[in-house]
Amino acid sequence: MHNFEHIIAERKGAVALITFNRPKVLNALCNAMIAELETVLALIEADPSLSVVVVTGNGKAFAAGADIKEMADKRFTEVFSTDIGGSRWQRLGSFRKPSIAAVAGYALGGGCELALMCDIILAADNAKFGQPEITIGTIPGWGGTQRLTRAIGKYKAMDLILTGRHLDAEEAERSGMVSRIVPLADLVPEALKLAEKIASLSSPIAMLAREAVDSAFETTLSEGLKAERRLFHASFATQDQKEGMVAFLEKRPPVFKNQ
Ligand code: CAA
Repeated sequence: MHNFEHIIAERKGAVALITFNRPKVLNALCNAMIAELETVLALIEADPSLSVVVVTGNGKAFAAGADIKEMADKRFTEVFSTDIGGSRWQRLGSFRKPSIAAVAGYALGGGCELALMCDIILAADNAKFGQPEITIGTIPGWGGTQRLTRAIGKYKAMDLILTGRHLDAEEAERSGMVSRIVPLADLVPEALKLAEKIASLSSPIAMLAREAVDSAFETTLSEGLKAERRLFHASFATQDQKEGMVAFLEKRPPVFKNQ
């Protein structure tokens, strides 16, 4: 799709597959890698032929966190003025198309936070999640205290964030942050299959649906219900809604045109 140094971006039909590619440091998320991720996500978002993104790492790590080597000697004024953890780092969280994190091995610190920015998390049976920042004298800074807490509840989030302990795939699934566990060898094929299923449906409707779900994290119930209703109403402005409902009545598969 594009040549990058720290990530690999590939087009798989209507699905973009992004693979973190710093295996020697367990895909530690350096600034340059975050910049590449930001760039590729903007390209995917602007490309109407791409409907879904899958983000993955390698067998040993999705990503073992922000690059500690790069952060270790930074002072308050530097992290504050560059706003580390701000919108550039949260780009996956504001990405408007459906996103799937396919997690094998370690997803720690910023790696766990990137997975939590996605719409769906699939885990390989060797996945390990955690927010170990407290063990290196800091706290999660890319959304972990907020998204993890909303995903698994205050008490479990406190247990993880205050101890830095890891959560295996089974516990992560039980806690509600992982939707499904698959054998390691099947992880990327399963994630692509899931992405292709979503991409076979209407892209604008999927975007409306994920925006409606996301509003559950942002608002009160009554505001969220109102946002959902408006997005539901908006779906009636698309040709794909007409096609989907007419196809059902005509007992044939729909042909969505992403219009
Ligand atoms: N940053 C920089 N380098 C890292 C790294 C990180 N987050 N995680 C691992 N590495 C490097 C190691 O330094 C090591 O490099 P060298 O071979 O040059 O020594 C290499 O990756 C392999 O790591 P280990 O030898 O430690 O591998 P292991 O299998 O023994 O342990 C691990 C794996 C438990 C994941 C361990 O590497 C680890 O604890 N990593 C750090 C996890 C962490 O604290 N993450 C949070 C970072 S802070 C953050 O993310 C803040 C935020 O909110 C955004």
